[in-house]
Amino acid sequence: MKELSLNILDIAENSVKAGASEVKISLEETDETLKITVSDNGCGMKEDFLKSVTDPFTTTRTTRKVGLGIPLFKMEAEQTGGSLSIESRHVELYPENHGTTTSALFYKNHIDFIPLGDVISSLVVLIQGSPDIRWRYTHTLPHGEVSLDTDELREVLGDVPLSAPEVLSWISEYLGEQYAEAGA
Ligand SMILES: Nc1ncnc2c1ncn2[C@@H]1O[C@H](COP(=O)(O)OP(=O)(O)OP(=O)(O)O)[C@@H](O)[C@H]1O
Ligand SMILES: [Mg+2]
Repeated sequence: MKELSLNILDIAENSVKAGASEVKISLEETDETLKITVSDNGCGMKEDFLKSVTDPFTTTRTTRKVGLGIPLFKMEAEQTGGSLSIESRHVELYPENHGTTTSALFYKNHIDFIPLGDVISSLVVLIQGSPDIRWRYTHTLPHGEVSLDTDELREVLGDVPLSAPEVLSWISEYLGEQYAEAGA
């Protein structure tokens, strides 16, 4: 993909499909590395399935044989010298604390590092598509932090849905201002 923000969209869509009510997206950035973690409380994956999930021929999709989201993300991390890891607890074994955490580490100075791109747009698309999920976003930068928690917004918004166009553009501006302050 052209931008890692599109991979984030794809990995977070997996959380949506897994029935999560909370999804946490965190980016931890230093001068050398970028770590992207997507964590959810969805149905999780069984151990055997999880072992093979980085293989493009593993998917529960019926419309198409191969799922490419995770294998692609893994390849893009590895081509910078980084790696991808997934931890998952399936709902049958962990009825109380099931979910999945997918994490990828990138080396930013490697020639094959793909830029993050427009992560704000990815977040807006996710919130718009699933306004009932609690989305938590944090991006720790070398000189600041950007964050958003849709539950905090919900308190202020009352009956106005998170997917309302004026709310989405407010979110976009709010994150943009934080990025400007963090010097990104
Ligand atoms: N967060 C998650 N929770 C539960 N299952 C997951 C999660 N992420 C991935 N999976 C499982 O792993 C499979 C492979 O995911 P992957 O993103 O690679 O492909 P896909 O979503 O099936 O297809 P694509 O991303 O190409 O549209 C999914 O079909 C799903 O069964
Ligand atoms: Mg996917």
